[in-house]
Amino acid sequence: MRKNIVAGNWKMNNDLAQTETLITQLKGQTKTSNAEVMIAPSFTNLWHAFQSLRQDDIEVVAQNMHFAENGAYTGEVSASMLKSIGIQTVILGHSERRAYFNETDASLAKKVDAALTNDIRIIFCFGEELADRKAGNEEAVVESQIKNALFHLGAEAFKNIVLAYEPVWAIGTGETASPEQAQDMHAFIRKTLADTYGNEVADNMSILYGGSVKPANAKEIFGKPDVDGGLIGGAALKAEDFYAIVNAF
Ligand code: PGA
Repeated sequence: MRKNIVAGNWKMNNDLAQTETLITQLKGQTKTSNAEVMIAPSFTNLWHAFQSLRQDDIEVVAQNMHFAENGAYTGEVSASMLKSIGIQTVILGHSERRAYFNETDASLAKKVDAALTNDIRIIFCFGEELADRKAGNEEAVVESQIKNALFHLGAEAFKNIVLAYEPVWAIGTGETASPEQAQDMHAFIRKTLADTYGNEVADNMSILYGGSVKPANAKEIFGKPDVDGGLIGGAALKAEDFYAIVNAF
């Protein structure tokens, strides 16, 4: 059975002191849902966050990593470095990485391989831009993003992958895809998986929705049958809001 997951993507927010404060506030929240909870602080705070949450029910995950094992890649962090501090999951392919840091389907395919080789679970992000949706191309865009970065893998690999559909026009804009738009796309994604890998892979895949999820809309979005959780940006920076979303399941 696929899992429900709520992951907080902190992006480039929170220094060490702010990370400590938010973690303390998160520990004060009560979880009443069955969702797996994750937070993704920036690289400098991963070790501290990991140590602070060792005994807790919140997994600390990374926002990015490089595809090479090591070497002359100034400023980058490898999968084995993440692994060495206890990190077991990485977000890959976020639209901000694609837009501002030139990540492509091809470079993401290499990152996917590097993560899986190191036994790191992946939250793989993708989603269409507004112009794609206006032109009615959203399914074609999403299909190609998924296929180009993931469909060289064997079926087994998908046990270590979570998908996150994040329409670019809904990220940080306050504009959310309607629950129906999210459901339609998630069903399409699941069908795309089923067509190539069969129903077992498709039915077991957790597909998260991301893009302006808030306490006020989480219940309705998570209520859709093919929406298995959320990747939360802005609302993940407030412990109460984040847990209101976690508890929306
Ligand atoms: P948002 O970000 O919730 O602030 O829209 C979501 C994301 O980028 O993962």
